[in-house]
Amino acid sequence: MRKKIALIGGGQIGQILAMLAAQKEMGDIVVLDIPDYVNPVKGKALDLMEMAPHGNYDAEITGTSDYKDITGADVVIITAGLPRKAGMTREDLLSTNIKIISAVAAGVKENAPDAFCIVLTNPLDAMVYTFHKLTGFPKNQVVGMAGTLDTARYRAFLSMELGVSVTDIAGTVLGGHGPTMVPLPRLTTVGGVPLTDIADQDLIDRVVDRTRKAGTEIVQLFGKGSAFFSPAWSAIVIAESYLKDKKRVLPCAALCEGEYDVSGLFIGVPCLIGAKGLEKIFEISLSDDEKAKLQVTKEKVQATVDECNV
Ligand code: NAI
Ligand code: 2OP
Repeated sequence: MRKKIALIGGGQIGQILAMLAAQKEMGDIVVLDIPDYVNPVKGKALDLMEMAPHGNYDAEITGTSDYKDITGADVVIITAGLPRKAGMTREDLLSTNIKIISAVAAGVKENAPDAFCIVLTNPLDAMVYTFHKLTGFPKNQVVGMAGTLDTARYRAFLSMELGVSVTDIAGTVLGGHGPTMVPLPRLTTVGGVPLTDIADQDLIDRVVDRTRKAGTEIVQLFGKGSAFFSPAWSAIVIAESYLKDKKRVLPCAALCEGEYDVSGLFIGVPCLIGAKGLEKIFEISLSDDEKAKLQVTKEKVQATVDECNV
């Protein structure tokens, strides 16, 4: 029997998620959206069914607004919510998206209580916290996708600056999804060579700064809406690691209970994702400077979570 992937939200990211999940033959796909948007979502699902003969995949892809249709889902990926417009911060989205995530949490809890859940909706760290709190799901069953994207952006910018293959760049970004995130140049390597041996401090500072502002850079270019290709791919790699038990180590927002001196918050940390979901959080020995930066991002995430009042 095929696996089942439920996509809650069939907008910009949701539609790319559906396409990638189909092309990778990850399973059957249900895209759920609000009744007002169910026809476009059904249209997108049908369009993807009609792409299958050339895309060379077998999958049943459907659109719905009925949570009963996500019953039995193995993975739920949540993008339901408003995206940012130019001039808006992620926190501006909070009041609307908290209502949406509350409705989604209720629907997923009732209909797909065993699914591995990946939340993307912004402000990410607070929305994944809220989803986890309202569902009461075990911590291994819920992660937020942000660090996987922030790290991809960091690697892409380094590749562009250094003129080397992006596949040879290894590094990670910790912390909240926003300008306080903490890229770790000290631990970044290029084909095994320490980044700090081959790049000057100006280049590193430029890339770190651009990474922190990368979401905003795209929002400003679009004028309306935010990035969707790279966020979708970043969520798919997490889902794939779970479904195929690949045990990839990916930066995800995970519930920390003492790790990195963080308690009771979802924050971006290196996570082992396998068949049991979030199987392990890896702790990195941080320098004093990195610890101080993590403290800043932690306070920022805590302040946003406090606003949620859940
Ligand atoms: P979008 O507006 O294109 O799609 C959102 C979809 O959610 C819409 O189709 C809307 O009808 C649907 N929706 C609204 N309320 C719903 C509900 N109660 N139940 C089900 N569906 C509902 O937005 P886009 O571009 O797909 O972004 C989605 C979210 O992801 C936004 O909050 C955005 O800020 C966030 N995002 C997160 C990133 C991350 O790294 N975590 C990166 C980029 C965006
Ligand atoms: C991004 O980083 C806005 O969170 C969104 O692209």
